[in-house]
Amino acid sequence: MQQQDIFSKIDKKRLPHHVAIIMDGNGRWAKKQGKDRLFGHFSGVESVRSVTEGAAELGIECLTLYAFSTENWDRPQAEVEGLMALLIKTIHGEVPTLNKNNIRLFVIGDRSMLPTSVQEELQEALDKTAANKGLKLILALSYSSHWEIKEAVKKIAKQIQAGNLEIDDITDDVVAQNLDTSSFPNPELMIRTGGEHRISNFLLYQLAYAELYFCETQWPDYRKSHFFDAIVDFQRRERRFGKTSEQIQENLD
Ligand code: IPE
Ligand code: IPE
Ligand code: MG
Repeated sequence: MQQQDIFSKIDKKRLPHHVAIIMDGNGRWAKKQGKDRLFGHFSGVESVRSVTEGAAELGIECLTLYAFSTENWDRPQAEVEGLMALLIKTIHGEVPTLNKNNIRLFVIGDRSMLPTSVQEELQEALDKTAANKGLKLILALSYSSHWEIKEAVKKIAKQIQAGNLEIDDITDDVVAQNLDTSSFPNPELMIRTGGEHRISNFLLYQLAYAELYFCETQWPDYRKSHFFDAIVDFQRRERRFGKTSEQIQENLD
């Protein structure tokens, strides 16, 4: 189907506020062509552009992209270094486009693990896009849920230790406020490309009621038309949140 046809099938009044994507399959995509895994990562940048543009066109509020996990630090050194160099180049190069499209950049994850050069480039991009009011583009970098939840537990424990919080006052909201994602709504749709059916330590707490969408397309082949397909699929689902279908239908009437 043509991209425009898919776009028109999307009900703009029932968009997910937040879509999160595990951008997977770069290495396999490159290997299949007899190329180095890094070629796959480089090629994936065009997919990031296309999907970000698609999300902005639709008017989606938040888009989180899983770019590098805590576990990815254990990959071969050359791949990690190549990915860090790609990050610097891409973040630097994309700032004018982000500003042109009113997109504000955010980062979640353990930034202290990143090389200083990446941290500086990131900070500059965060500052330069801080006034933008359109799409919130959230990069998960050196991110894992286990890390994030452990940090949240530490922060809450410190508040208790300092006498600023009672144990009985730890609510769902308190937990959410101490996660890296505290200023965003929970994702309603989680897409994973590349054919694997797992979550790989991504937003475990926040995805509690997200719709999960897995597709075979490897990330470097992924474009906004694939993203629109996922939104159409999302809009066909009945989200029940533990209730019955009848209860959901009654509320719609
Ligand atoms: C996802 O692609 C990108 C990162 C994890 C940085 P992969 O590099 O995991 O590609 P595959 O899954 O090995 O094909
Ligand atoms: C998840 O992909 C991390 C990112 C996309 C950044 P991986 O390729 O690292 O995950 P596993 O190893 O297949 O679970
Ligand atoms: Mg992978």
